[in-house]
Amino acid sequence: MTTFPNRIFSGIQPSGNLHLGNYLGAMRNWVKLQRDYDCIFCMVDQHAITVWQDPAELRRQTRELACGMIAAGIDPEGTLLFNQSQNPDHANLAWVFNCVARMGWLNRMTQFKEKAGKDRENVSVGLFAYPALMAADILVYKATHVPVGEDQKQHLELTRDIAQKFNNDFGREVFPLTEPLIFGTATRVMSLRDGTKKMSKSDPSDYSRINLTDDVDRIAEKFRKAKTDPMELPASVEELKDRPEADNLLGIYAALADLTLEEAVARFAGAQFSKFKGELTDLAVSVLGPIGAEMNRLMADPGHVDAILARGGEKVRALSAPVIAEVYDTVGFLRP
Ligand code: AMP
Ligand code: TRP
Repeated sequence: MTTFPNRIFSGIQPSGNLHLGNYLGAMRNWVKLQRDYDCIFCMVDQHAITVWQDPAELRRQTRELACGMIAAGIDPEGTLLFNQSQNPDHANLAWVFNCVARMGWLNRMTQFKEKAGKDRENVSVGLFAYPALMAADILVYKATHVPVGEDQKQHLELTRDIAQKFNNDFGREVFPLTEPLIFGTATRVMSLRDGTKKMSKSDPSDYSRINLTDDVDRIAEKFRKAKTDPMELPASVEELKDRPEADNLLGIYAALADLTLEEAVARFAGAQFSKFKGELTDLAVSVLGPIGAEMNRLMADPGHVDAILARGGEKVRALSAPVIAEVYDTVGFLRP
């Protein structure tokens, strides 16, 4: 058994406002990982175009996402940060994987079924093939670990299936069987208007989410208006069971303060929501305020971010080139 050196890869779509859910569920974990691991973080613009994107918006959102990641603490010196289309080897490997993955495997993907809905005949071929591109993103760097949310676990299983079939078909251990890294705390931040729905950029109400670019007043207003229930805050985690809004707000507090949910509950046992929301706002502003300010500062200078991404692109191309050469040699492509 070959052992592959630890390497982390993750991807995020440049499609719209970054919010507290993205920060607590993804970005913050990535920032922690880069201290201990060799990390590659990619803005997956090629995945984004599986559904229609306005070209100017896509460019703007890719820059905005890069600024958000750097503002949140991704260090573009130590960590590789780039947008996917800068490295054609993702698409090159994805083609080979399109020929490894089976129709039946992709047909089972729940995200495709949800996104395609009843209109299957009319969605792009790219939307169907998306998981093979995702597998290529990861395996073109032989990444061993991928931090993702629960919703991406199925795609990661498919990545392992593709790696295993490739290795078996050709009788060479070219690819590692990549493991997901799922983080325990605050993996699901819920809407501020409805504690049973995920906080999402696609929610029509801006009051449902805290955007990373919201200023202090806006953050305060959104928490003040956040839905609650008529009771005071409970003394135990068990009592949060049928109180999704209280559960969500305490979960957000715990995540921002780096406490366990038990500790956060103990801190506010018996308190009124109004008092708790005041403290939650202060905490959120102290964590998110500097990130939003830095993000706005970076966005004012697009040339600077573009240069960072160009540097990242150049470095990742150097990493993937030998892997593509190995794959092409393995499948029998003649390269005189
Ligand atoms: P998306 O905005 O859905 O493309 O997600 C980008 C990343 O943020 C993924 O890793 C998601 O798992 C994470 N994410 C998105 N929304 C939430 C949320 N409400 N709570 C926690 N994580 C989230
Ligand atoms: N599919 C992921 C999402 O929608 C984004 C993504 C693309 C990704 N390629 C990846 C995540 C590789 C992890 C690893 O959130």
